[in-house]
Amino acid sequence: MTDRTDTPNQEPIPTPNFIGMLIECQEDALAVIADSNKAADVLRIELLGAKSSLSKLTRQIRLVPDADRAQVGTVVNDVKKSIIDAINKKGASKINDLRSSFDPTMPGIRPPEGHLHIVTQAIEEITRIFERISFIRVRHPEVDWDWYAFGALNMPANHPARDEWETFFLETRDKKQATRKMVLTPHTSNGQVREMEKKKLPIRMINIAKCYRRQIDVSHTPMFHQFEGLYIDRNVSIGHLKGVLDYFVKQFFGPERKARIRPFHFQFTEPSFEVDISCGVCNGAGCKLCKQGWLELGGAGMVHPAVLTNGGIDTTKYNGFAFGWGVERCFMMKAGTHLDDIRLLYSNDVRFLRQF
Ligand code: DAH
Repeated sequence: MTDRTDTPNQEPIPTPNFIGMLIECQEDALAVIADSNKAADVLRIELLGAKSSLSKLTRQIRLVPDADRAQVGTVVNDVKKSIIDAINKKGASKINDLRSSFDPTMPGIRPPEGHLHIVTQAIEEITRIFERISFIRVRHPEVDWDWYAFGALNMPANHPARDEWETFFLETRDKKQATRKMVLTPHTSNGQVREMEKKKLPIRMINIAKCYRRQIDVSHTPMFHQFEGLYIDRNVSIGHLKGVLDYFVKQFFGPERKARIRPFHFQFTEPSFEVDISCGVCNGAGCKLCKQGWLELGGAGMVHPAVLTNGGIDTTKYNGFAFGWGVERCFMMKAGTHLDDIRLLYSNDVRFLRQF
């Protein structure tokens, strides 16, 4: 489009010339509107705004003879109106195009919806169950000093009991460059002495964390979860332990499931037990997962005095019980799960995970 106002013109403009320039302006503008894909607002600014050729020309209306100014003004208005109409018409046809291809009454497409991983769901459920009897969830390191995982639990260096934990060890150096052993925690029992070190009694903790062992088969994965209960108070008895275990089994598995306690040996409890629950896959008949109808969930017992002493607790006044069970195993033994291979939980197959 030619700009007719590049050089400020102070000479009078004859009326027919001015009207001729206006008509030229109008034709240029209508051609732009017809060819352009720009939005109506953009076109309005470009063709009618203060910097448009039409506005610049209109500002020179004072150079038209006085007598003709009103007539020229009417032409200016007509030109403007025709441009506005053309822009509006174009905008409306665009909206109509859209309207004909878009049906706002059609139902939307629902995006796929995820959910928490089943192990996370189980952890939350376990947390809620223990919360109701005042056992509060705490967190302790999942990579910890050898001391908290073994030494503090009455298993000095080179004690054969350590072999049972198939542990991943890390060699680390302290500030003086001396080697010190750390472990990927093979059980949540490392939280026991750490919790005692907080020096707040009585203790009612539930420590739920990742554990690591060098094992993989239908009932083991190298990373799994445990929950560790610890109760330290005055005059705690095995009866209290049994009460808490029964409470949990009824809440988590349902009133029809059976639990049993078998005498066992752990370095950090005396007496010690293993806790089994009747298998939910075969209902106690024996299957690929449980072999003889019972599945071991983990251990329990009365905290060994050596452990209490390591945690700075006065054993003449306080005693307590502890238990440590596998989260995944608990989930697999739940009614209706029918899960016979623990590795499925971590295979990340959404067809499997979606079922829960
Ligand atoms: N930490 C043991 C394990 O991983 C389980 C265990 C046994 C935990 C006895 C306890 C306990 O708190 O008292 O096999």
